[in-house]
Amino acid sequence: MIVLGIETSCDETACAIVADGDKIMANIVASQIDIHSAYGGIIPEIASRKHVESIYAVIKQALTVANIGIEDLDGIAVTQFPGLVGSLLVGIAAAKSFAFARQLPLVGVNHLFGHIAAIFLTEKKPAFPFVALVVSGGHTSTYVVHGPHNFALAGQTLDDAAGEAFDKAAKLLNLGYPGGVAIDKLAKKGKRDYIAFPRAMRNSTNFSFSGVKTALLNYLQKISTPPNEEALADIVSSYQEAIVEVLVEKTISLALSKKIPRVVVCGGVAANSRLRAAFQEAGDKEQIAIFIPPIALCTDNAAMIAAAGFFRLQNNERDDLAINAISRIHANS
Ligand code: KG4
Ligand code: ZN
Repeated sequence: MIVLGIETSCDETACAIVADGDKIMANIVASQIDIHSAYGGIIPEIASRKHVESIYAVIKQALTVANIGIEDLDGIAVTQFPGLVGSLLVGIAAAKSFAFARQLPLVGVNHLFGHIAAIFLTEKKPAFPFVALVVSGGHTSTYVVHGPHNFALAGQTLDDAAGEAFDKAAKLLNLGYPGGVAIDKLAKKGKRDYIAFPRAMRNSTNFSFSGVKTALLNYLQKISTPPNEEALADIVSSYQEAIVEVLVEKTISLALSKKIPRVVVCGGVAANSRLRAAFQEAGDKEQIAIFIPPIALCTDNAAMIAAAGFFRLQNNERDDLAINAISRIHANS
């Protein structure tokens, strides 16, 4: 089964073609980062307009790279929620047009389940059940995944997402947007225990990252002069460690409490080198197998949407042409 996936939930216009849910034939991502970084964050109105400008070319390029025509497709999967409504609508309109014109089955996909499905595009696939941590710019949630159509939410952030905590810290420190990559790079040169930033809600399955961000703000206000290069590296390294430690601790604890020795870590923040290493260390210690997609499949892409859509299509699920964009995810989804 050949599935065309479309992803436009935020600031990436992406289209991919995936065969049988795990073979990537094309994976095109047109990033708008250069445009939004000038504003220090995503401007939704600009994002929608850029998606409109890019979507057709991105779909066409995916078909060219995969060396197939529309007639070779068996279905279309598109991110339906959560995300910026204006951005989601562009991908959904494109998906509906192709589905209608070519009478192709169409399925809407939960972006977060897309992030989890990215792991099925890799060589080392986890068996069910597994625990998944989805950690991105907009979400920090854990799930117990019993099967491709059976996800149970176990924990979620009560305020900021982990990626947001990285991005807001980078903004405070003038490190540019998006902040995760810049902090990751700079933190490699710093001391992880330079400042004891708070680790919130240690005894809960839920997360909270607004406190660590405020602690950083307070720290910066307290020191009289701006930190030099060395101190800056120590600050971001300690800050990153506070976020990483909580993510690893809560996810591993969940896996241990459920007696599930498999953990999938996905979403944009799973690109973080310290998070990847810390999960590996914890997994080795607790004898839990850790599965993390390669970086290009952690950050937003359409191959993961095609992979998640494949599971729905294979299950004979279909959406009709009335599907609409939904900005927020249902509390229990
Ligand atoms: O999954 P994603 O591409 O988009 C959302 O669905 O939100 O995640 C984007 C987030 C941003 O907050 C970005 O700063 C973060 O992922 N990110 C990282 C790294 N690369 C991307 N955070 C920490 N370290 C990284 N290397
Ligand atoms: Zn995402």
